[in-house]
Amino acid sequence: MKSYTNTSLGSPSRALTFHPSVPTPSVPSNPKSTLLLLKLSHAALNPADLALQRFLPPWLPFRSSPVPGLDFAGEVVAVGGGVGDDVKVGDRVCGAVGLKGVAAGRGALAEWIVVERAEVTKVPVREGWNGREVVGVTGIAGQTAAEMVRCVGEEGVKGRRVLVNGASGGVGSLVVQVLRGLRAEVVVGVCSAASEGLVKRLGAGEVVDYKADRALEERLRERFGEQPFDAILDCVGSQTLFSKSPGYLKPDGKFITIVGGWSQGVIPFVKNKMRPTFLGGTPRSYHLFLLSASGERAKEVADWVEQGVIKESLVDSEYPLEKAVEVCCHLHLCGSGVLNADLVRHMRSWRPAEPRARLSSRLEATDHMGACVSGAGLGIPHVIESGSGLDIVITGRYLFITRVSSISVVVF
Ligand SMILES: NC(=O)c1ccc[n+]([C@@H]2O[C@H](COP(=O)([O-])OP(=O)(O)OC[C@H]3O[C@@H](n4cnc5c(N)ncnc54)[C@H](OP(=O)(O)O)[C@@H]3O)[C@@H](O)[C@H]2O)c1
Repeated sequence: MKSYTNTSLGSPSRALTFHPSVPTPSVPSNPKSTLLLLKLSHAALNPADLALQRFLPPWLPFRSSPVPGLDFAGEVVAVGGGVGDDVKVGDRVCGAVGLKGVAAGRGALAEWIVVERAEVTKVPVREGWNGREVVGVTGIAGQTAAEMVRCVGEEGVKGRRVLVNGASGGVGSLVVQVLRGLRAEVVVGVCSAASEGLVKRLGAGEVVDYKADRALEERLRERFGEQPFDAILDCVGSQTLFSKSPGYLKPDGKFITIVGGWSQGVIPFVKNKMRPTFLGGTPRSYHLFLLSASGERAKEVADWVEQGVIKESLVDSEYPLEKAVEVCCHLHLCGSGVLNADLVRHMRSWRPAEPRARLSSRLEATDHMGACVSGAGLGIPHVIESGSGLDIVITGRYLFITRVSSISVVVF
């Protein structure tokens, strides 16, 4: 079978090695084995895949053949002796390999993979949806969206006023759909003006452009100060959005984020959680979580697909498995599959010590220049043809600013 492995830390072209022919894995038939062997139809890539390529060393002793990749959809071809009757050979299943599974090296960038029964759910039945549509929705993005929505409160989101930061992204676009489907009273999405139509179509009643001239937090305070939100679901990782939140989040409201830790700084995280108000802490509750992927969570999302709570799967592009390195680069550059010449120039001249905000504004400026060129000559093919076999799907939309911290991943 075809497969990728992680061979070193770093950029996709350094980290990933393609193997055209490796032995197909198998599952033990002993009565205790709860493993399934799947023949994949699709895998999807997330920002987390790129982070793992950079930070999870492939040489760890328990990673003998470290196959990367989290999201998968495929067919069961063999089951361990301890798998109950609810999953059979021939069933179509989907989900995300847990961090433990990827750490152990049994990721989704391979034609055949071994997963735990507890990591999968049945592919939802929905007209026009197959593995391509399902893979990103029931994987990391959808499961994270489900967890964020759950965090809003035990009473659910019905009748609540919720702000979604990063509403056009892989996670945010699903959060918006779920909030609307579960009848939140007000759903406001923060995204770029270019994504306004999309985010409104998915269910946001109102959209706020984070790129507009005046500070986002100031505009939120003016617009929603009188009618503050019950919850803010942050899919971007904005410290300022939290520190200024008393201007637009109810006193008992929750700020729920999925981006934190090292990427935003451990110190801000500790301060947000623990600093008392009299020492300058923000008087709002702060929640940061790391998804623990499971079949149970994937089922919750699959049910929402069947019930029509989730209406759309945003598939950005589709590639054959052999193109995983290009997909990772695409994930960092732009959703259209072409490279922006000025962006490339800026990225080449960028130094890690450069303040994030300054680079962001430079990239935003180039964003408007529309100087897109083919990646030919830069080592990244412009024309990428879809082939048969396992395809990789990019879900969500990717923006330069979110990629700033990851520029070192791209090698030209
Ligand atoms: N903790 C966890 O368990 C967990 C799980 C999944 C993901 N994550 C993290 O969550 C983040 C989002 O993941 P994703 O898959 O949704 O990424 P994504 O698809 O790349 O989405 C990012 C979105 O953020 C928007 N954006 C960029 N800068 C923004 C800003 N300053 N203000 C508001 N919106 C902005 C962009 O919107 P426009 O295109 O409209 O400009 C883009 O659509 C990543 O950092 C990922 O690593 C964490």
